[in-house]
Amino acid sequence: MTTIAYANSYTGYRNPPRLGCDTVALTLLWTEGSTNGRELMNSHRKRLVQESWEAISRDHERIAIGFYERVFEIDSAAPGLFAKTDMVAQRGKFLMMLGDIVRNLDLPEELIPTVSSLGRRHRDYGVRDIDYDRVREALFGAIAAEVGDAFTEELRDAWEEAYALTASVMKRGAHTAT
Ligand code: HEM
Repeated sequence: MTTIAYANSYTGYRNPPRLGCDTVALTLLWTEGSTNGRELMNSHRKRLVQESWEAISRDHERIAIGFYERVFEIDSAAPGLFAKTDMVAQRGKFLMMLGDIVRNLDLPEELIPTVSSLGRRHRDYGVRDIDYDRVREALFGAIAAEVGDAFTEELRDAWEEAYALTASVMKRGAHTAT
């Protein structure tokens, strides 16, 4: 059942992310609520994501602006979802959460409950599974615009994996009753 939900979470991807075998297995454990103490993503990919996020720390605000501009372009549901939102405050909340996720890739026991309840709150905001694919494009577009040529295929793959893990735990959280 979980496997099907996980596989389906990639329908509609233009370039399905190349996930390491460990990540596929661990995402399944993750979505079951435990990783049995094992590592999420391989260390090299985690380091790529963490170091690249740190390297562009001065650009985070611009990334958030570019990200939400793209979300509104790509996702026709966005104007309705964010109709009453203070977007300046929202950019700050998004950046803080993304920073926590990036830092805590090493600490799944911290990350899973936080991301899972974030997903449950998103269900209550009216966010649907399909929105995660659209937002993914918006996020990578915004990061690529700031990182430029240094956004190599290897770096993109590492971010794809981190995003895929996050989105799958959020979606799982959204489908889990509290
Ligand atoms: C990696 C994925 C995402 C992250 C890290 C993220 C992060 C956040 C954070 C930190 C908040 C602040 C409120 C809270 O903590 O509950 C928030 C609110 C929100 N997000 Fe997301 N989000 C993600 C994906 C999405 C997607 C796919 C959509 C759909 C377009 C979306 C739409 C919203 C909406 C509508 C709100 C509520 C705004 C309000 O308070 O008026 N988010 N998000």
